[in-house]
Amino acid sequence: ELAQIGVTGLAVMGRNLARNFARHGYRVAVHNRSYAKTTSLIDDHGDEGTFVPSESMRDFVASLEKPRRVVIMVKAGAATDAVIDELLGLLDEGDIVIDAGNAHFPDTRRREAALKERGLHFVGTGVSGGEEGALNGPSIMPGGSPESYQTLGPMLEEISAKVNGEPCCTHVGPDGAGHFVKMVHNGIEYADMQLIAEAYDLIRQGTGKSAAEIADIFRTWNSGDLESFLIEITADVLGHVDAKTGSAFVDIVLDQAEQKGTGRWTVQNALDLGVPITGIAEATFARALSGSVPQREAARKVLPADAEAWQVDDPDAFIEDVRLALYASKVVAYSQGFDQIAAASEEFDWNIDRGAMAKIWRGGCIIRARFLDRITEAYQRDPELPLLLADEYFTGAIGNSLAAWRRVVMAAARHGVPTPAFSSSLAYYDGVRAERLPAALIQGQRDFFGAHTYRRVDGDGTFHTEWSADRSESPA
Ligand code: 6PG
Repeated sequence: ELAQIGVTGLAVMGRNLARNFARHGYRVAVHNRSYAKTTSLIDDHGDEGTFVPSESMRDFVASLEKPRRVVIMVKAGAATDAVIDELLGLLDEGDIVIDAGNAHFPDTRRREAALKERGLHFVGTGVSGGEEGALNGPSIMPGGSPESYQTLGPMLEEISAKVNGEPCCTHVGPDGAGHFVKMVHNGIEYADMQLIAEAYDLIRQGTGKSAAEIADIFRTWNSGDLESFLIEITADVLGHVDAKTGSAFVDIVLDQAEQKGTGRWTVQNALDLGVPITGIAEATFARALSGSVPQREAARKVLPADAEAWQVDDPDAFIEDVRLALYASKVVAYSQGFDQIAAASEEFDWNIDRGAMAKIWRGGCIIRARFLDRITEAYQRDPELPLLLADEYFTGAIGNSLAAWRRVVMAAARHGVPTPAFSSSLAYYDGVRAERLPAALIQGQRDFFGAHTYRRVDGDGTFHTEWSADRSESPA
């Protein structure tokens, strides 16, 4: 009997996705460049369902029913192109190629266009939730043609995480929309992680509490508004003790955060679209700063802190302030990410439903959080919401946090604790709500040195002032 879906690339993510399909009763064709991975999957998990192993790509493709559905789960970039090239000669019109890796969305757009010319469907699909999610239910963000979703969608929905019985999978939009949304998901993931890290650092420096004590604080937070996967694992990481030294694990890890590129892509794209995703950008740069070893070494030797030693008077009150500041900053990061999705949707004509994205992020993925219910509701109230921050629920929540947020950022500045994500989120909040911005002055400077012109508050048209002559104004 032919297999209903195939997975090529059986490293841990591919292997777990294949097992997830098999556990849901699908016959799954499996293939890997080196056959040893395929046989080990069958040896270890063959009893979980029906696997159809093949040594060659040709046999793998031949083992699939038509239209064939082939999931590629290999390293993003050249490896993905190589697998696609190999598949091209073997597939028939109407077959569906699904790239479930973390591809850069412009690559996905290019591949989709190329495969379309050959009558094939290419579905760039975001998959979030790590190894564990891939096996037990990830959040799935498929792009590609609506037509391909008709046959593929139900299978993906079935293996996805469920929240209140609803699948964490929906057709995001055509062409690269799925990988785009996954990219922004990862950008938000960076912001969320950085905010949590800053919260930890503030508490540790401000109160002198140990990592284990702070683990308990995060555990408590996880039973409130901040309940989320990332807060939960943070408590676990902070509570973990290094077996070799007996120290807190977090104290023996080198403090240089790495990245595989999705955060950087998110920021690059935001610059192209002109969307201020300051929280995500600061989080990405904070990783870069942590890895700037020579600069840090040079700075450590000579740059004074000129800051007061720190011991907060009322630790419990301070910790509550940090919690509120974290919540508010988190709303900003999401609001910015959703703005970016809206801008790209417009730019590429993807028609992405932001409420639906919030919904499929409620379970399975790395940024899953109770908070996403609130975002889902906000977009239910107004699908065209111009700014998530301005939704009535969030204005209320931030209103309650604002004084605490300002106190935390002030304390951090006074005591020399870097909080790029907390501070920049507050600056964004104050910027976006400001009646007037000093951007007017920047327009004046631009017109002064480059005759770049400006618009007036009291009428239409573009104007220039003769700065080096009589300073008269004329229409440009
Ligand atoms: C997910 C994760 C996953 C991966 C990150 C790690 O949604 O399951 O985002 O895709 O773990 O991309 O990214 P960095 O290595 O860049 O931190």
